[in-house]
Amino acid sequence: MTTLDPAPSLVPTLGGHWYTDPAIFAAEQEHIVEAGWVCVALAADLTGPGSYRTVQLGRESVVVVRGRDSQIRAFFNVCRHRGAQICTEPAGQVRNKLQCPYHAWTYDLTGTLIAAPNLTRMPDVDRFANGLAPVAVREWIGYVWACVAPDPPSFEEEVIGAVVTRLGDVESIDHYGVENLALGRRISYDVAANWKLIVENFMECYHCATIHPELTEVLPEFADGYAAQYYVGHGAAFGAGVQGFTVDGSAGHTRIPGVSAEQDRRYFAITIRPGVFVNLVPDHVIVHRMTPVAPDRTLVECDWLFLSEVVASDADLAASVELFHRVNAQDFAACERTQPAMSSRIYARGGNLVPSEHHIAEFHAWVAERVR
Ligand code: FES
Ligand SMILES: [Fe+2]
Repeated sequence: MTTLDPAPSLVPTLGGHWYTDPAIFAAEQEHIVEAGWVCVALAADLTGPGSYRTVQLGRESVVVVRGRDSQIRAFFNVCRHRGAQICTEPAGQVRNKLQCPYHAWTYDLTGTLIAAPNLTRMPDVDRFANGLAPVAVREWIGYVWACVAPDPPSFEEEVIGAVVTRLGDVESIDHYGVENLALGRRISYDVAANWKLIVENFMECYHCATIHPELTEVLPEFADGYAAQYYVGHGAAFGAGVQGFTVDGSAGHTRIPGVSAEQDRRYFAITIRPGVFVNLVPDHVIVHRMTPVAPDRTLVECDWLFLSEVVASDADLAASVELFHRVNAQDFAACERTQPAMSSRIYARGGNLVPSEHHIAEFHAWVAERVR
């Protein structure tokens, strides 16, 4: 009879340089951000024809614009004449065309070249071939997702698959009808930490008892350190006296009608790699979108979405928003506290994951596999 060694309690993290090295950051931009689907905008922010957003996907600038047919399209923000950026504002509204500010090549909202100085004297110019280069887009859960790769990976596998892996099925998120919710509040955070520290933090709850007093009041099981993401399909239950997912446990807002009895009074968290977190509670949905801008800096945009009648009624959303805003501030402070140590000689070979964090090793493997 052989005795198997018990699995070790501590599993190594990535080495510190993974969080500081500009070459690794560049490789991540190329092989992760530019190779996959990125959540680039709330579709409702593109309010009507001609409404646009300028976003950065890795090294590429991309314009996302709603057309006259209401379709959302995305294009490389690169003029086909001599390369000037077409849009430089982060957001704006055009009438029915995108015009390059350099020599005035002009494109319609489907990207076709429709005008340019002396264009009629150049009849051989193909207006489609010289139109703005398209970027793949999908709309899902009310957000616009874009991929700059020439041959995008399957959206169903990469994005929807992440939700299925976490919740067990796609119906579970459909119950929340996220695409029908309205933006109640948006807060942007500029975090002085590597994007992976933020993902790792979101994936574990070993820190919850230490840094999230308000959250553990609402979700007492989080005090045990097992994140809702540890078990497939599990949502953390609200505490007995808790009425809503609010900073003081007070009642929240009108429950989303599709939420099932099993989902009621529970919190579900989903990580969609590389940069989206979705948080589901009975009366609202919180969506985090991350943009890594440097090895030690990440922008995070966080949306709180409620039923449209709740937002329209001017209800006071403060107690709901304040809970996760505090969680965000507590988490990002912890990530910022960790970032400087990533260049310490003591951390050159990394740190340790305890058993309730072992699933983070799979994220590390996912990153390493792509960057190598
Ligand atoms: S670079 Fe855009 S018109 Fe010349
Ligand atoms: Fe946290």
